[in-house]
Amino acid sequence: MNTLRRLPLLTFVSCLFAVSAFAADEVVQRAADHARSHPAGEAPASFVAADYHGDLRDLPIGVFDSGVGGLTVFEAIKTFDGFNNATGQPGADGVPDFVHERFVYLGDQANMPYGNYPAVQKTDFLRELILKDAAFLLGRRYWRAPGDAAPALDKPAVKAIVIACNTATAFGLEDIRAAAQAWGVPVITVGVVEAGARGYAESRGESAGSIAVFATVATCASQAYPTAITRVLGEKSPAVWQRGSVTLAAAIEGEPSVKQTIPEIVDYEIRGLLDERLKAGSASAALDSVMLGCTHYPLVEQEIVDALAKWRDYTTADGTKPYAALVTDGKIHVVDPAKWTAQDLWRSLAQAGLLRPATGTAPAGGDQFYISVANPQWPGVKLDADGGLDRAYKYGRTAGDLSREDTVVVPLTPARLPTSSAKLVRERLPATWASLTAAAR
Ligand code: DGL
Repeated sequence: MNTLRRLPLLTFVSCLFAVSAFAADEVVQRAADHARSHPAGEAPASFVAADYHGDLRDLPIGVFDSGVGGLTVFEAIKTFDGFNNATGQPGADGVPDFVHERFVYLGDQANMPYGNYPAVQKTDFLRELILKDAAFLLGRRYWRAPGDAAPALDKPAVKAIVIACNTATAFGLEDIRAAAQAWGVPVITVGVVEAGARGYAESRGESAGSIAVFATVATCASQAYPTAITRVLGEKSPAVWQRGSVTLAAAIEGEPSVKQTIPEIVDYEIRGLLDERLKAGSASAALDSVMLGCTHYPLVEQEIVDALAKWRDYTTADGTKPYAALVTDGKIHVVDPAKWTAQDLWRSLAQAGLLRPATGTAPAGGDQFYISVANPQWPGVKLDADGGLDRAYKYGRTAGDLSREDTVVVPLTPARLPTSSAKLVRERLPATWASLTAAAR
């Protein structure tokens, strides 16, 4: 099931290829028309508009990612304590802010990695996948088990959509907002990129240094972070350096086809970034901040900081330090967009009057988790030896078929997590693990 296993072993790639201009709004229009033509929510990528009438405060909050990496964002939301729950004033009060909320998480694991579609000219297809994720969260439809005769239609609609995936935010945030408007659905949509940029602006203090964004190749190519940072900081915006990686997220998940270790990959990545800056002869200030622009990277924060220090101090045989001027010798300021996403989410819900009232009881139903898996019954689908989508088939698909169901969404249980991901979640994301295991009972 771990589709990462089917990634080619590519080396790190700089953000060199250009993203093709988004095709007008054909992709959004098609998704909007498709959902409207299935008002009973019985078809893939459709929902029941009537679920959005009346008081929405009791609805859960939706969170989605291309896979299970977004559980790092889920963890940050579950544990976020930035406000006083009684007064709504900023400041921690020792009680997680979303304690009265429940969540629906979706990981589109069968179609991941999202970060590699634009490089093979499948940007519109990626945009459609992202709109389908949003429609799934709005809707009721899922499969209890792959191969069932009919889908189940009892998943709750959501009052907010958190795009936990950086690539999906870069390529789909505006699309989801446009589609929601076309559908007339008052759903709140929050993305990690905008939140990360705002978080950087709020937390950088007196920094005058450059910032490095580490992300997928697609996120870098989209220029989403440089654009968002410039939007927030205007003239005060620093130089934004970017480095896209094809394999780091896979390595963090324990993907066996990635032969390098995480420190080796990070090391290679950091040196590559610094070499690019040297080659560019950039006059920009030394790097003093890092944006963890991929869901998986908070898990390797220390490795990134260590590698930056290592290469800053690297001395050649003739005694020179080629990278010394590129990296601050002070502390590196690391921005994890997840925490800021939680803050954005809370503020947006509060502003819209959509926070669930504190009833003193745990929200009924608890959290729900879903994951996509390949659907062997779909006509023409091609699977690989592990039962996932065949790589050529996966990247050969094109946008335009909202009813295509070569992957189906099923409940995510600990047993359905790839072994290495299960270990990661259990050891590093305790609030998520507790919620996931409770949901599976
Ligand atoms: N979740 C993606 C992100 O944050 C990384 C994995 C992928 O490429 O799908 O960009």
